[in-house]
Amino acid sequence: MNSNSLVSIADISKDEILDLLDRARYFEEHSNSKILDGRIVATLFFEPSTRTRLSFETAVNRLGGRIIGFSDPGTSSSVKGETLKDTIKMVSNYADLIVMRHHLEGAARYATEVTDIPIINAGDGANQHPSQTMLDLYSIYKTQGRLTDLTITLVGDLKYGRTVHSLLMAMKYFKPRFNFVAAKELAMPQEYKDFCDAEGIEYTETADFSPEVINTSDIIYMTRVQRERFTDPMEYERVKDLYTLHNAMLDNSKPNLRILHPLPRVNEIDTDVDDNPKAYYFEQAHNGLFARQAIITRALGINIR
Ligand code: CP
Repeated sequence: MNSNSLVSIADISKDEILDLLDRARYFEEHSNSKILDGRIVATLFFEPSTRTRLSFETAVNRLGGRIIGFSDPGTSSSVKGETLKDTIKMVSNYADLIVMRHHLEGAARYATEVTDIPIINAGDGANQHPSQTMLDLYSIYKTQGRLTDLTITLVGDLKYGRTVHSLLMAMKYFKPRFNFVAAKELAMPQEYKDFCDAEGIEYTETADFSPEVINTSDIIYMTRVQRERFTDPMEYERVKDLYTLHNAMLDNSKPNLRILHPLPRVNEIDTDVDDNPKAYYFEQAHNGLFARQAIITRALGINIR
């Protein structure tokens, strides 16, 4: 395994997280530095994506590197039965770094075991989405001026939501308080609550997205109920519309509150929130460009200063 890979946020230390945030800050000012000249990055997306793939590819293009890969596995030889192992070994012949999204949990970890080039996990099933976490941390830091001692409310699909799982794990270094707001069918899995207990992280768990929860939050992190993770369509229908944030619900919220969402949204944030200065999800996605430039340069062992 290449030690510069980023498979899970749990694989990197607090110092490495802070280094990535420092790099993101640098790239926000120097987004077009041509420091990837001659480097080739492969983006292999076995699942759909807009932000993650396009921001990784923009990150490489702006830094002067080249992109190969696919956004639709139906155009790759995986449809002829080529295994993930063989696909990774082949692409490793051509690229310096692989960014991969796959529907199977553990696929990115497996990829690191069959190649010597670094792998960046761009989402594996309901498991992890570490590059999203880095842009989330960067967004929290930019809007709050700190990462420590914040009340973060996670709302929606906490069962299958890989972004909330990764964020929860990364926050262990920063003494957060979490509110988990979800229907019982989509509650935070026990393993993550055990993680909180082991790390001394305070949390509450409720199905009620109440004014009290909203008005004491520094960050509200809304999530989409992911139709693609359900095996029973009736269960999806039952839970898909349970939580929608409307602008009026923010009337008595804290001045520093910011609304985050990894996007895409369906109807969990009403469009009447979009013009509220506390809405930050579009800027959050923009921060993904800088966070991913940070991750790519770290993975390729490139010093920026
Ligand atoms: N946040 C996120 O992963 O978005 P995409 O699915 O569009 O990449």
